[in-house]
Amino acid sequence: MRIDVISLFPPMFEAISAHGITGRAVKNGLLTLRVWNPRDYTEDKHRSVDDRPYGGGPGMVMMIEPLQRAIRAARGEQGKAVKVMYLSPQGRQLDHAAVLELSKREGMILLAGRYEGIDERLLQAEVDEEWSIGDYVLSGGELAAMVLIDAVTRQLPGALGDEDSAQQDSFVEGLLDCEHYTRPEEYAGRKVPEVLLSGDHEKIRRWRLKRSLGRTWLRRPDLLERLTLNQEQKQLLEE
Ligand code: ADE
Repeated sequence: MRIDVISLFPPMFEAISAHGITGRAVKNGLLTLRVWNPRDYTEDKHRSVDDRPYGGGPGMVMMIEPLQRAIRAARGEQGKAVKVMYLSPQGRQLDHAAVLELSKREGMILLAGRYEGIDERLLQAEVDEEWSIGDYVLSGGELAAMVLIDAVTRQLPGALGDEDSAQQDSFVEGLLDCEHYTRPEEYAGRKVPEVLLSGDHEKIRRWRLKRSLGRTWLRRPDLLERLTLNQEQKQLLEE
């Protein structure tokens, strides 16, 4: 997958390009990530990317032209079909189903805004979709873009070391994940549940499914309304 990001702060993206699962995906060539700085597409001596809002009021607004040139440069390197996606709290909210959908795309161009916002005419002319990561306001679109990139990257085939671990994540089966333990066997008087030491893999799977169901019921009962168990899960619970 190829992802181009338009951002005034390219170094922020080292957080995902240099570390962890996303860093490995970049190294392996599963993910090509390039950040374009609109400041490199200015033509005045101050390299201005923002200006005061018409109508007055606090803050600054990102100008059309540097953004438009940066987006068009990124578009030039992707296929014509690539969507320009603006990160904003007003967009469609990202969830697991959306992440799965996005992970099937060949590429995307993510537009991260700063300041009070972006000139509306740039959005109308260049943006295809608007995406939010939740009902709260961030200081810019960069963190939201990184959240989206991280969640999408872990769904790319081969991105995870153990192919199974995306399959067992929370939400995959519409349920929250169960709890996890590693050594020591006892910590501050708390023991690892006996069943996990039993070596009985079927019993362990049944226990994990029950814990997932219990947690979902306690913490996110809304998810249970939409839940349908698959055949394997039904069998496990019947035994
Ligand atoms: N930019 C600022 N807040 C945001 C949010 N909640 N989601 C996506 N982009 C944003």
